[in-house]
Amino acid sequence: MIRNQWYAILESNEIKIGRPLGVTRLGEKLVVWRTLEGEVTCMHDLCPHRGVALSAGKILVDRIQCPFHGFQYDASGRCQVVPANGKGTPVPKAFRVHTYPAREANGFIWIWWGEARPDLPPLPFFETIDDAFSYMTFRDHWSVHYSRAIENQLDAVHLPFVHHNTIGRGGRTIVNGPLVRWESDPASPIETMNIWVNNRADEGQPALKADEMPEPNRHPSLQFRFPNLWHNWISDSVRIMVAFAPIDEENTLIYLRFYQKAVRAPILRQVFNVLAQPLNIIVLRQDKRVVLTQRPKRTDLRMGEKMIPGDGPIIAYRRRRQEMIDRAGELPVVTADPG
Ligand code: FES
Ligand SMILES: [Fe+2]
Repeated sequence: MIRNQWYAILESNEIKIGRPLGVTRLGEKLVVWRTLEGEVTCMHDLCPHRGVALSAGKILVDRIQCPFHGFQYDASGRCQVVPANGKGTPVPKAFRVHTYPAREANGFIWIWWGEARPDLPPLPFFETIDDAFSYMTFRDHWSVHYSRAIENQLDAVHLPFVHHNTIGRGGRTIVNGPLVRWESDPASPIETMNIWVNNRADEGQPALKADEMPEPNRHPSLQFRFPNLWHNWISDSVRIMVAFAPIDEENTLIYLRFYQKAVRAPILRQVFNVLAQPLNIIVLRQDKRVVLTQRPKRTDLRMGEKMIPGDGPIIAYRRRRQEMIDRAGELPVVTADPG
């Protein structure tokens, strides 16, 4: 995983007021909960007293209470009450649970995985998905590291094989390019890879190299935004978007969303979204069947795979990921939310 990034880890509607949820994300057991006001909090799912899972506890207005001996932790992770000592007795500062900065936007819950900073950067998302869109989500568990799941979505070479009877119909086996362009903003850690896919039928012509591709005159077909967001531009009004929530080194939760703004009337749009989703699920299942057989379960910059020019976006992803890991350092620093 890359430090100093915002990760989408859950959808907002998975966390209900009064119901703490225990999940594994980024290799940690976490408890995610809301105060009665709805503010979201994410902390280690481990009571520092004697190791019980806080997710089995309950919410008391703006605190979570351990189910074992009733210690109460506030949203910053500090223990405020040790009932056995008397509720008015001050609690030593060392009684605290590691807490991640957590935010909520675009229907996701995000945690900052990295060092403490007074000003955290903005959350990553896709600006072209505006409020006019509605969406429907499909969740799926894949038993691979999120790098494998992400690379599958950057892979233009697999389309006529894995999806021969769906989105890869037509036998367009020649992979021109793909053209890859980066967008980065020096003021933030948000980095985006734009990819233009240009597959054609094989009529004896060689594939064009990325640097032989004509200047694009349309929105990129695919966008990947570090660390875990992907966007497929189907049309102005239809998109597919995926958040790859890393569970651990061998597991990922896929949040696949179908977005559209062609049908906007409240009930009709939901019906439309429900009807459109099965095709996306079939396509995702086609990917899953193959990707789950890949070994090893995670990828690295130097791992001995024999790549071809059409794998350009995957190579570009691996390079950039490694640079970002190197730049940010290896070990996570778990911090309380300064905000
Ligand atoms: S283990 Fe949590 S209060 Fe004792
Ligand atoms: Fe695919």
